[in-house]
Amino acid sequence: AAGDPDAGQKVFLKCAACHKIGPGAKNGVGPSLNGIAGRKSGQSEGFTYSDANKNSGITWDEATFKEYITAPQKKVPGTKMTFPGLPAEGDRDNVWAYISQFKAD
Ligand code: HEM
Repeated sequence: AAGDPDAGQKVFLKCAACHKIGPGAKNGVGPSLNGIAGRKSGQSEGFTYSDANKNSGITWDEATFKEYITAPQKKVPGTKMTFPGLPAEGDRDNVWAYISQFKAD
């Protein structure tokens, strides 16, 4: 289903302790998510990823992202992202609609 980016911005509050996004976003506990749509896993410059993430072979698009964020440790066993996931499909749709708007720096 098509997500609502404004609703996704609210969902992103759950991510924002670790991830920044938008103009001037820097890596923190997690990588900056600018330009995530269409990017291969593990490519935010200057961020030290786990081997599990770097070598996952994933290209982030709506389908791969939604599968990942349902249960990150299932999709990428060994990831150092300790977030348990978003159980509600609507939240997954909305947060993708939000984060996929931001282009690479
Ligand atoms: C990685 C999204 C919550 C820490 C990632 C990646 C995505 C993502 C797409 C892969 C990035 C890439 O390959 O470049 C999200 C979203 C969240 C969320 C949408 C909220 C719904 C969190 C939280 C934390 C966190 C709360 C910290 C407790 C990390 C870390 C990585 C990562 C450390 C790198 C993983 C690794 O190298 O194994 N996240 N994340 N994330 N995230 Fe999150």
